[in-house]
Amino acid sequence: MDDIKKRMDELIEKINKASYEYYVNDNPSITDQEYDDYYSELLKLESKYPNLKRDDSPTLRVGGKVIDKFLKVTHESPMLSFDDIFNEDEIVSFDERIRKTCPNASYTLEPKMDGLSGSLLYEKGVLVRAATRGDGLVGEDITHNVKTIKSVPLKLNKEIDIEVRGEIYMSKKSFEKCNNQRKQDKEPLFANPRNAAAGSVRQLDSSVAAKRELDFMAYFIPNPDKYGIKTQKESLDFLRELGFATNYKLNGLAKNVNEIINYINDLQQKRKDLPFEIDGVVLKVNNLDDEAKLGFTQRVPRWGIAYKFPALEVLTTLKEIKFTVGRTGKITPNAIFDPVHVAGSVVSKATLHNEDYCLEKDVKVGDVISIRKAGDVIPEVVEVKKERRTGKEIPFKMIDKCPMCGSLLVREDANYFCKNEMCSKREIEGLIHFASRDTMNIEGLGERIVEDFYNMGFIKSISDIYKLYNHKEDLIELEGFGEKSVNNLLESIENSKGNSLEKVLFALGIRHVGKKTAKVLAKEYKTIDNLIDATEEELTVINDVGEIIAKSVKEYFSNEKNLRLIEELKKLNLNFNYINSSQNDKLEGKTFVLTGTLKEYKREELTNILESLGAKVTSSVTNKTSGVIVGDKPGSKYDKALKLGVKIYKEEDINTLIN
Ligand code: IVH
Repeated sequence: MDDIKKRMDELIEKINKASYEYYVNDNPSITDQEYDDYYSELLKLESKYPNLKRDDSPTLRVGGKVIDKFLKVTHESPMLSFDDIFNEDEIVSFDERIRKTCPNASYTLEPKMDGLSGSLLYEKGVLVRAATRGDGLVGEDITHNVKTIKSVPLKLNKEIDIEVRGEIYMSKKSFEKCNNQRKQDKEPLFANPRNAAAGSVRQLDSSVAAKRELDFMAYFIPNPDKYGIKTQKESLDFLRELGFATNYKLNGLAKNVNEIINYINDLQQKRKDLPFEIDGVVLKVNNLDDEAKLGFTQRVPRWGIAYKFPALEVLTTLKEIKFTVGRTGKITPNAIFDPVHVAGSVVSKATLHNEDYCLEKDVKVGDVISIRKAGDVIPEVVEVKKERRTGKEIPFKMIDKCPMCGSLLVREDANYFCKNEMCSKREIEGLIHFASRDTMNIEGLGERIVEDFYNMGFIKSISDIYKLYNHKEDLIELEGFGEKSVNNLLESIENSKGNSLEKVLFALGIRHVGKKTAKVLAKEYKTIDNLIDATEEELTVINDVGEIIAKSVKEYFSNEKNLRLIEELKKLNLNFNYINSSQNDKLEGKTFVLTGTLKEYKREELTNILESLGAKVTSSVTNKTSGVIVGDKPGSKYDKALKLGVKIYKEEDINTLIN
């Protein structure tokens, strides 16, 4: 009997050692066949001599324990999570905030595992309880399921009492296997490994979790000082010594923002080749004395933050298809969905263009859809996840009346139009367009204010904008306004009168005349009267002006109402001549990238100035970039510019560039 007991202990030791090499060191020490042989020998012995079976036997991992409900677990200290940030500027602000309290802080950088956090409690080195985070204070007891996770040590290398926190996750490989099985069994598929992991730990029968092949990555010890630990890096090393899988090959350290950004970029490169999903980088102040000084806000620790990678494509649910009326009367269906973070910002709507597009995509309200940012700016619906339909989705149906004025819609090519020129929505959209940045650039006359002024009767047509001073006293009385802001607005309206011809041409909202065409026409004809007199044939001869544009321009200037508007605007002293300032396109064809914090300019402000001079401002540096404007604490874009030999402009060079 003693021999048998000895052999069983020996087998357990061999299996545990193999698991340790495999999960903790990423370095398998025996073949799968050898592992299976040891394992089945142990199983056989355990079934023959059940009273010799040990409580910490690795065979317990196959599960089989069934509970009837999840017990509540109160965490000894709250299981918090970090605030999320999404871009370089927020990293800079985080670092600045930290340095106010801890000027010499450095950080640990860890991949942000995309699973769910779990707390494991060990007594004298033996796993006694595992719990979910729950609401942070009270979680659920999932010990039966966590015991099936092979990378969770049932027994530690030291006989200590300790709580360990980390991420329960499913590897990409196991996720694929799991969904393949579900497909065969005609069960609904999991959307991602995180949902699959969360669904698996919330199973009453642990043999289900065992089959799902979950994993655990340790990253946090709640009371590290108990073990003489002085830094987060030491916590991670200690976890590894105890027998936990940590991301020891990927975790890093950084002394400043530059190193943080380099780490992020590097990890982003490796991301697709990792065996598990990550969705960002977790930054923690390394020194635990610093950590203690920083403490917590009401909700979150101040000593750490989670940087989330820009999601390039995310899933959400289509809540509504909303039809909007544009300034030309064009009706656009729009997807309204639960807000999601895509490529660095929160979006909740995307255009669905027109009826044909909706029918082709077969969108239904209630569908799970994937969203991405086209050209990194405009959100678009990539795909409808038809396999996730429940049958309750509502099919798309095109409307036949204008949602604003009720007039019957008319189809022209792929689009429907409201042809009612008095349609209030069309008028409002026309006014918004007239005042916007790319057209007359009237500061203070944004979308909401135009709409309010329209509804209050102050601005019903374009010429009313230039008569707004007649309502000065009324405006000052409005909530949110005052003498100063009204004066600023009126001044901005006055200034817009001097804009060059191309601005007002674009602002008038002539169909098919966008920013570029307006410029071509203004340069060619110099005054609006010349343009009004131009024939359709003459217009067509101009480069970049095709028949459709020529026809539309001619149509616009043949309409009495439009000619009356132009006359009225002339009387109100609006300029209708092309102002050939070489300033206008001084930077035409040039592309700039901004990085780091500038003292004198806000990013948006400098972007506007550069764009007004004809330049483009983009977010990534390539060998076609004309220059990179570098502020304080520049990011990796600076390094890339140096590498590619792209011209660098410091803050003090900006004036020379733009003046
Ligand atoms: S530390 C006080 N480290 O991301 C926060 N979290 O907000 C302790 N996560 O909910 C968590 N990888 O589930 C930490 N290396 C890592 C992580 C990580 C993923 C998750 C965790 C938490 C959220 C961070």
